Amino acid sequence: MTDKSGNLVLGDKKVDLPVKSGSIGPDVIDIGTLYKQTGAFTYDPGFTSTASCESKITYIDGDAGILLHRGYPIEQLAEQGDFLETCYLLLYGELPTAAQKKDFDHRVTMHTMVHEQMSRFFTGFRRDAHPMAVMVGTVGALSAFYHDSTDITDPHQRMVASLRMIAKMPTIAAMAYKYHIGQPFVYPQNDLDYASNFLRMCFAVPCEEYKVNPVLARAMDRIFILHADHEQNASTSTVRLAGSSGANPFACIAAGIACLWGPAHGGANEAALNMLQEIGTVDKIPEYIARAKDKNDPFRLMGFGHRVYKNYDPRAKIMQKTTHEVLAELGHKDDPLLQVAMELEKIALTDEYFIEKKLYPNIDFYSGITLKAMGFPTTMFTVLFALARTVGWIAQWAEMIEDPQQRIGRPRQLYTGEPQRDYVPLSKR
Ligand code: CMC
Repeated sequence: MTDKSGNLVLGDKKVDLPVKSGSIGPDVIDIGTLYKQTGAFTYDPGFTSTASCESKITYIDGDAGILLHRGYPIEQLAEQGDFLETCYLLLYGELPTAAQKKDFDHRVTMHTMVHEQMSRFFTGFRRDAHPMAVMVGTVGALSAFYHDSTDITDPHQRMVASLRMIAKMPTIAAMAYKYHIGQPFVYPQNDLDYASNFLRMCFAVPCEEYKVNPVLARAMDRIFILHADHEQNASTSTVRLAGSSGANPFACIAAGIACLWGPAHGGANEAALNMLQEIGTVDKIPEYIARAKDKNDPFRLMGFGHRVYKNYDPRAKIMQKTTHEVLAELGHKDDPLLQVAMELEKIALTDEYFIEKKLYPNIDFYSGITLKAMGFPTTMFTVLFALARTVGWIAQWAEMIEDPQQRIGRPRQLYTGEPQRDYVPLSKR
C-alpha cells in the first residue's frame, strides 16, 4: 500500500488527507483525522463510497465482473479445486500443497460432530420454525459448548474455533433440516468428503442405505465454493463489527447469519425461486418485467442486480452451468422453472431498463433451481449460503483480529432530532 496526498477544502479550511493505493482497485482517501482537523464527519449511508477496512482476502471488480480470492479467479477455483481447498486458501492466503491439504482436511473432519447436548437445543424449537431461525440460535449456542476456543487473544484457540465452525456448520445445517421435516438426525460419516457428507446427513434415513450421487456432490461442493466469500458485504461487515468489540467468534458468526437472512442479501435465493414459481409460465414474464420497472410497484426481479457487480456476476455463470448439469443428471432438463428462468434472463438482458441500470443476474438467480432439484426446500437455501459463507466470515474476522490497527467499530451520525431542551413535569404537559 502506498501513500499519496489529497487536499480537501472545507469552508476556509484546507486539509491534507493521505490517499492510499491498494494492490488493485480504487484508491482510498484516509479520512481518519478529518474530524480532528475540521470538526466534520463524512456521510455515506449504505457505505457506497466507503472502504471499511484493509483486506488481503477477496477482490471484486464489479464493472468487469471479476471475483478473486487471494488473487485466484473464482472460475478457476470452482472448476479445478474443491471447497476445503478454497477454505484453506481463504484462511491461510495460499493454496495448500498436497500434504497441507491432507492435513487440513483431516483437521476439519475431526470436528464434524457436535456436542450431544446440542441436539436438545434443536428440539426446543417449534417444528415449523424457519431453519435460519434455528441456525442463528444454535450457532450462537456453540459458545456455550466450546469454552476452550473462545479466547480471541490466543491464536491457537482462534484456529480451533475456525476449524470447528467450518466442520460443524454442515452438521448443524443438516440437523436444522431434519428437525424441520421430522426425521431423525444423521451423524456425520468422516470417510466421506465435505459435500458428500453433508448430502448424506440431509437425505439419508436410518431405514435405508444412502448412496451419494457424485454429480450432485460435485455440484454441492461447487455451490459452496461460489458462496465462500465476497469481501465486505453486509453479513461480513456485521461479523467484523460484532468482532471488533472482542465478542467470541461463535457469537460473531451467529450475527452474520442473522444479517444474511434478509431478502436483499442471502435470502434472495429463496425469494428468487418463489418468484420463478409465482411467474410459473413463460407467457407471464412480460407482466412481471413491467412490474419490476414500475416505480409505484415495490416488486423487484429477485436474483437481479447487485451493489457491486455492474456486469454479469461471475458466480452466476458457473451456477448456470451447474444448474444444467444437475437437471440433466436428475432427468429434469425440461423443468418449467428452468424454462422461465432462461427466458426471463434473455428478456431482462435485452430490456432497456435493465441495461441502463446495469442489472444482471446474480448468483441467487440460478442457485435456487439447482437446490430445489437436489431436494432442498426453499427454506434451506439461505442456510446453505450461511454454511458456505462461514469460512469467509471467519477468514475476515481473523484478519481483523490480527490487524494491529484494529479498534472497536463505532460509526457516527448526522443527528436531525430535537436539540437540547428541558424536561417538563408530567403534570405540566
Ligand atoms: N429489479 C428491478 N429494479 C431493480 C432491481 C431489481 N432486482 N435492483 C435494482 N433495481 C433498480 C432500483 O429500483 C433502482 O432504480 P432507481 O435508480 O430508478 O431508483 C436502481 O436499480 C438501483 O437500485 P438500488 O436498490 O439503489 O441498488 P442497491 O445497490 O442499493 O441494491 C440489491 C442492490 C442487490 C439490493 C438490489 O439490486 C436488489 O434488491 N436486487 C434483488 C435482490 C437480490 O437479488 N439480492 C441478491 C444480491 S446477490 C447475493 C448477495 O450478495 O447476498
